[in-house]
Amino acid sequence: MNLTRRKMIFLVGGGGVLAAGGGFGYAATRGPQTAYLPWERAGGYEDPRMRAMSWALLAPNPHNRQPWLADLSEDGVITLYADADRMLPHTDPFSRQITIGLGCFLELLRMAAAEDGYRTDTALFPQGSSAAGLDQRPIARVALTADPAVTRDPLFAHVSVRRSNKEPFDVTRPVAPALLEELAAVVRSGAQFGGTVEATEVTAWRALTREALRIEVETPHTYQESVDLFRIGRHEVDANPDGIDFTGPLFESLRLTGQFTREGASDTTSFAYKSGMDAIFANTDTAMGHVWLVTDDNSRETQIATGADWLRVNLAATAQGLGFQPLSQALQEFPEMAGPYARVHDRLAPDGGTVQMLSRIGYGPAIGKSPRWPLESRIMNV
Ligand SMILES: Cc1cc2nc3c(=O)[nH]c(=O)nc-3n(C[C@H](O)[C@H](O)[C@H](O)COP(=O)(O)O)c2cc1C
Repeated sequence: MNLTRRKMIFLVGGGGVLAAGGGFGYAATRGPQTAYLPWERAGGYEDPRMRAMSWALLAPNPHNRQPWLADLSEDGVITLYADADRMLPHTDPFSRQITIGLGCFLELLRMAAAEDGYRTDTALFPQGSSAAGLDQRPIARVALTADPAVTRDPLFAHVSVRRSNKEPFDVTRPVAPALLEELAAVVRSGAQFGGTVEATEVTAWRALTREALRIEVETPHTYQESVDLFRIGRHEVDANPDGIDFTGPLFESLRLTGQFTREGASDTTSFAYKSGMDAIFANTDTAMGHVWLVTDDNSRETQIATGADWLRVNLAATAQGLGFQPLSQALQEFPEMAGPYARVHDRLAPDGGTVQMLSRIGYGPAIGKSPRWPLESRIMNV
């Protein structure tokens, strides 16, 4: 997360930290050195499975946990597992969102393999699954076969520039209603797409997503889960290229001067905590539209299919130049969120079903890539 200058000035109260930043010079302005390399290495492998996975790991996924692990011991096959150390037990107690992230990965894997002339035959949960959580059984067995007739997907062109935009959107730039149809058109795995850019509805969604964010942050165990994933400054981001990353001159300066620490962020009376709250509300409050995916059932297979559709919607938004940020708090299944969860479901799934994803859309500033673990670190048995 690289804050805009506008927010920087707001955050530092007009100059104290900028002055400190001058003193730290080089240290404050250098960015992470290795955390973004997987974006450059995508496609640069000999084994077609590695080539496809090197793209797939650029998929969106909750809290950038990158929960994928691949076993390549069978020729021509990727057996995908969920990394038990990368779950989010507090905000995602049944690993529904983690499974959606794995669905994003599998769809991107399919697209990348197709781009390379390979067909993927995918068996989901070949040894079964549990609704309670993901376990040591495989998520998918994916066989790659060279196939000159495989169809390439035009959405693949947008993979390298897709982002989750965590900056405020421009409230003077409305989103044309016709763009919702462009996003709806790419959904094909079974989820129902919905969306709005209508002012009254957007106002209601802004309020609901703000309230849900407040609850997540004011609930100590869910907030702590996020704080534990804060990566503050380039050294931490390079050492752990995942989680919630804070880089750029402002955060380097705040880190060097001790003004932004995990301990400080946990203290709800601190400057860091209050600034953080203002920054996240600036996002919910500048939504210029909202989109969502609803499914009839909530099986593991449906969650994977939702991830495939979500990746496609995210890429279609990228193709349209639209900023896109999931706001998942109101969909989370921890007890303290029961109120917003019920309200979202009353609105979007009154006859039953699960609201799997909810995002704000609008036009935001250009933002940088988010970190990724190298592909090699995600391969088992090597
Ligand atoms: C299931 C799911 C839920 C997500 N929920 C949120 C969210 O609530 N807030 C948010 O800012 N980003 C959310 N994201 C986006 C991730 O934070 C993002 O994909 C990750 O940090 C990697 O960044 P990138 O998408 O820019 O590559 C979600 C993504 C997925 C797949």
